[in-house]
Amino acid sequence: MGPRTVLVTGGAGYVGSHTVVELLEAGHRVVVVDNCCNATPPPTTTTSTTTTTTDSHTNGKDNNKEGYTDDDTDKNGSCSPTPTTATANHNNATTTEERDKEEDERRWSALPLALQRVENITGKTLTAFYLVSLNDVDALTKIFAKHKIEAVIHFAALKAVGESVTIPLEYYVNNVSGTLTLLQVMRSAGVKSLVYSSSATVYGVPQYLPTDETHPTGQGITNPYGKTKYFCEQVMIDLAASDQDWGVLLLRYFNPVGAHVSGLIGEDPRNIPNNLMPYIAQVAVGRLKALQVFGQDYDTPDGTGVRDYVHVVDLATGHVAALEHVWQPDYKGCESYNLGSGEGVSVLEMVNAFSRASGRAIPYVVKERRAGDVAKMVASCTSAQTHLGWKATRTLEQMCEDTWRWQSQNPRGYV
Ligand code: WQD
Repeated sequence: MGPRTVLVTGGAGYVGSHTVVELLEAGHRVVVVDNCCNATPPPTTTTSTTTTTTDSHTNGKDNNKEGYTDDDTDKNGSCSPTPTTATANHNNATTTEERDKEEDERRWSALPLALQRVENITGKTLTAFYLVSLNDVDALTKIFAKHKIEAVIHFAALKAVGESVTIPLEYYVNNVSGTLTLLQVMRSAGVKSLVYSSSATVYGVPQYLPTDETHPTGQGITNPYGKTKYFCEQVMIDLAASDQDWGVLLLRYFNPVGAHVSGLIGEDPRNIPNNLMPYIAQVAVGRLKALQVFGQDYDTPDGTGVRDYVHVVDLATGHVAALEHVWQPDYKGCESYNLGSGEGVSVLEMVNAFSRASGRAIPYVVKERRAGDVAKMVASCTSAQTHLGWKATRTLEQMCEDTWRWQSQNPRGYV
């Protein structure tokens, strides 16, 4: 498959940034849209629609709207990039080389740190980055008019299960309304190839294990975050059924963990981590005192919760495989695939594996069960192997070693 232009929403986030690495290394051109709600914003964020591009036909200068407030994100998002005072770039350059160098520096300084690191890892540059909320229909429309987008990978979403219970409206506006806006703009632009970042939470409380794609969805989902994923899936299923030109893939992740082997990019929660792996990593590096183990009375071998952890780089390669599938001329409709390892790992097994990988003790205290948790979630991933030619290959040890390399090299994340 030759190089193509892919729009990645949420490309500055954890799974998004790792996928952008794989897309660039596969030779694709990548346009990223992100409102930096869950990503460290550009160091010289001036705010919305800060367009940085290296397209030869666009000098980038006339697109940088410095000092421009992203009202949409402020209004709709539960957070917005923290704009800092724009650094006035006085253009004192005289020669073409100096002007080009200054333009590169401006472009670079407008990228979120994670994407700067993505360019470091790959030695390649993004086609463009836009600091934009998906609810900004005008900005999205301009992006599709400017770039010949051939597919969209849609990661952008708020994704903290606990937070979604406290601010459900922001989750529905950001995750559902943002997706509806994106789909409308895609349709208007004639772009109908979509890979959607969904989640195993759409299965609710599993009725059988391992859970395959035919398992019922939408029943017993215990939090607004999971419901937003389910509702977005339903919209895409109905859209693809109504218009045969759409080719959609729903990728249902189980538990993404790990980091790129370089240690340059990784998971960097904005607050106290909700999820197990980043919490353990922050205990190991000394940012947190001890892990709280949520329950040791489940019907599992050691009594603690069992999950299907999948390395984030395996997830990323799964998205490249999904693109190749969705770009097949005869692919139409909407299919769903589980992306997991197929292996169950308990909380205490993860604690011990991380302690071995890091050489650090991980103190923990057993507490009550966490509301909404299930005892065990494990994926059946044979369908992704058969139809996408994808299989997770990285081991639990690699998940822990790669997480530790990222966390020990970046004790305070992207700063
Ligand atoms: C894993 C296990 C906890 C934290 C969620 C979302 C899912 C996906 C991944 C986005 C459980 C235990 C955890 C802690 C603990 N996110 N735990 N102490 O809940 O399986 O899935 O994140 O797509 O959609 O639902 O992941 O990492 O929070 O929990 O004991 O401090 O670790 O009880 O057994 P979860 P998790």
